[in-house]
Amino acid sequence: MKIIIANWKMNKTGDSAKEFFTEFASLNKNSNTVIICPPFTLLHLTKDKGFHLGAQNMHQAEKGAFTGEISATQLKDAGVKYVLIGHSERRIIFGETCETVNKKNLQCLLHELIPVVCIGETLEERESGQTNEVLTKQLSIAFNSFSSETITPIVAYEPVWAIGTGKVATLEQISETHQFIRDRLQFHFGNAEKGGSGDRISVLYGGSVTDQNAQEIMSIPNVDGVLVGGASLDAKKFATIVNTQPQI
Ligand code: PGA
Repeated sequence: MKIIIANWKMNKTGDSAKEFFTEFASLNKNSNTVIICPPFTLLHLTKDKGFHLGAQNMHQAEKGAFTGEISATQLKDAGVKYVLIGHSERRIIFGETCETVNKKNLQCLLHELIPVVCIGETLEERESGQTNEVLTKQLSIAFNSFSSETITPIVAYEPVWAIGTGKVATLEQISETHQFIRDRLQFHFGNAEKGGSGDRISVLYGGSVTDQNAQEIMSIPNVDGVLVGGASLDAKKFATIVNTQPQI
């Protein structure tokens, strides 16, 4: 079973979300795990629609004077189970560092929220051969002191150059990079033989996933699902992605 996450970013209002839910319900025939991350204002409307509820961001502090931010307790109170942490738009536009990502992950752990930790290299980093180095750094800092005994996190590999650009990584690039991430997770958390969770952590791909390419991407052996931005806003396209039958 694959995990499919919709990241609606700063899109949709109540009316367009309701239209989406009605249309999607009439098209969905799959038992994949579907997580919708709507804007905060639509969490209440998305709840109880048959999806798992996700948030797009969360502050690392327990509570307090952080105007415009939202806490783990508040998200839990709204029914949220998953939180995107360290999306590249948060890192690049809002200056989130690997250390902030780590604090947010630890806060998720404390409140038993499942972090979906987003990692990925820029085009410049890929072209200069630094991809593995960048991913190693992002993963090791993100999961510093994170014990995966109570909460098994999810990792989303999203090459920055593939997000919202229509430029998808090649199947070979995805396959190689996912294998690398799997190896790093086993190194960090240990593998099943050692009683660790490195094999169990789902690694999703994100970046210009559409109804057209979802099947081939999800058929890559190391890909446990997809994180979808643009194409998740359209109920028909998103249902096609969710109904995809991977060839493995
Ligand atoms: P995209 O976005 O599917 O529009 O490329 C993916 C994401 O940002 O998670």
